[in-house]
Amino acid sequence: MQTPEKINVLFICLGNICRSPTAHGIFEELVRQEQLNERIYVDSCGTGDWHIGHPPDARATSAARSRGIDLSTLRARQVCTDDFHQFDYLMAMDNQNLADLKVLRPAGFSGELDLLLRFTGVNDAAADVPDPYFGGEDGFHEVFDLIEKASLSLLAIIRQQHKI
Ligand code: 4NP
Repeated sequence: MQTPEKINVLFICLGNICRSPTAHGIFEELVRQEQLNERIYVDSCGTGDWHIGHPPDARATSAARSRGIDLSTLRARQVCTDDFHQFDYLMAMDNQNLADLKVLRPAGFSGELDLLLRFTGVNDAAADVPDPYFGGEDGFHEVFDLIEKASLSLLAIIRQQHKI
């Protein structure tokens, strides 16, 4: 459950049915493995409203399942201004998501708003997690690999920053 005492991490993409639920599931599993559930809360959302209430795309669920991650209980929601007050790390999947979030960002926001991949050391030009929605199943496995690698770095950085 989310509380102000926790470190709150939000992953954001466009539809909240492919990339950000994948990040949500992967990061939550890493947090569980490191027994940090009581310290870190994880959520995801989309900048768009088309898929509100929908489960993740079947191809994302299947790619994640093949790697031991269950996305089936997740449901899409749209980002809101309150998210900037409740979350400490807002990790966008691509540059368009980031630009859209910067428009919504309230004055006084003091958290980290950045690209997931840039935050974890990838250079700017390559910092988009590609949108797999209009492609084939392979794209979902590539997205999984990219997000998994970045998530490991992100969790290490959070642990370092918060001394946990
Ligand atoms: P996501 O992928 O942003 O990774 O969830 C997409 C999902 C749906 C659409 C676009 C991207 N769409 O156009 O409906």
